[in-house]
Amino acid sequence: MINCQRTLVLIKPDGVHRGLIGEIISRLENRGLKLVAMEFRHITKEFAEEHYAAHKGKPFFNGLVKYITAAPLVAMVWEGSDAIKAVRQTVGATNPTEAAPGTIRHDLSILTSRNLIHASDSVESAEAEIKHWFKEEDIFPWERDHEEWIT
Ligand code: TYD
Repeated sequence: MINCQRTLVLIKPDGVHRGLIGEIISRLENRGLKLVAMEFRHITKEFAEEHYAAHKGKPFFNGLVKYITAAPLVAMVWEGSDAIKAVRQTVGATNPTEAAPGTIRHDLSILTSRNLIHASDSVESAEAEIKHWFKEEDIFPWERDHEEWIT
């Protein structure tokens, strides 16, 4: 695989609440990315504050932490060529009204503060976020080499 990367993706509580887990996972699968870890989690305020530490002090920070901790979410690791950029592209811009048509945020949401999904935005943040959310033994890389399973 060329430039194989891993990236952290969260289907935020509004995505779970609205029944969009399957739709969001489908879009990433259809892109050609591989799901290598997935867990349903209801995170604490402290855990959320660490995940969003870069935004501490910003006007939206408290609301963001309240939103992400309000109900369960789906935490995942996706793998693929240039996965960090590819996932961000499929996710779309932070503000859904500025996201390109065809992206998850454009097609399925309308408010920045309820934009359904999180995806790591750089190699450094992907590495730190995956470490924060998953133990290495809970990530399961696999190969598309079992043709007999689908033929
Ligand atoms: P950010 O890391 O800038 O965006 P992204 O999720 O695209 O990487 O912001 C983190 C989250 O904070 C964002 O998904 C939604 C929320 N947020 C607001 O509620 N209001 C804002 O003005 C911004 C910039 C972000």
